[in-house]
Amino acid sequence: MSGLQATIAGARYGTLTVLGNVELRVAPNQTVVLLGSNGAGKTTALRAIMGTVAAASRTLSIDGRDITALPTWRLAQAGIVMVPDGARCFPNISVRDNLLGAYTATHARRSTQEFERLYRELVSYFPILDERAEQLSGTMSGGQRQMLAVCRALMAEPRVLLLDEPSAGLAPIIAEALFEALLEIQRARQCAVILAEQNAGYVQPFGGHCIVLAEGEVALQGTMQSVLADERLRLAYLGF
Ligand SMILES: Nc1ncnc2c1ncn2[C@@H]1O[C@H](COP(=O)(O)OP(=O)(O)O)[C@@H](O)[C@H]1O
Ligand SMILES: [Mg+2]
Repeated sequence: MSGLQATIAGARYGTLTVLGNVELRVAPNQTVVLLGSNGAGKTTALRAIMGTVAAASRTLSIDGRDITALPTWRLAQAGIVMVPDGARCFPNISVRDNLLGAYTATHARRSTQEFERLYRELVSYFPILDERAEQLSGTMSGGQRQMLAVCRALMAEPRVLLLDEPSAGLAPIIAEALFEALLEIQRARQCAVILAEQNAGYVQPFGGHCIVLAEGEVALQGTMQSVLADERLRLAYLGF
């Protein structure tokens, strides 16, 4: 099958196991949403896929090729990139230098023209980043830093993009605009997306498969539509 396939069991911090069994597959241009309230295990699941938390067992394959043994730092080369929570970027350098750094880190053969081409393509999704190209990224708003964090990840030209609560800390109107852009990016770049979110409203337009996590276990999964139609479970696990 094309796309990413991951199985995780028993992800833990030290001796504390916080996540049971999670299995997912996501094809190009498709989305898997991990929904759950604070502490449900979403971040841990994404980290376990990337191999940055310990797990009792973990398998990862892309396009049917087993890449379980690849160290985390090589996953970007395999096309798998994560945008961690917290809109992280290098605060003391400019927006453009953040993007250049991301390009340099993920391309073995570099060219100025190629960087320029990618830069133009990516800032077309978020024109404000180009307007602020020379601004120190730490002085931008949370929403703008999140856009930059997304573009830093896209510099690697990923086939699979993992996003950890991109809406966290953003005003609803900013978060909605961000998700609209993310949908456009997914369609334009045909990448597979694994999206962790607390707020089902934001991710509904992505459709696809939805896994609801509660206290480190899969409480429910199915199509986005079927999950959100299940009022009893929605109330129990998502609180709305
Ligand atoms: N570094 C850590 N050390 C120990 N426990 C952690 C750590 N990070 C998260 N946890 C615990 O793991 C559980 C899942 O957390 P997390 O994956 O961050 O949830 P979510 O991203 O859904 O909010 C929570 O009980 C949390 O307290
Ligand atoms: Mg989290």
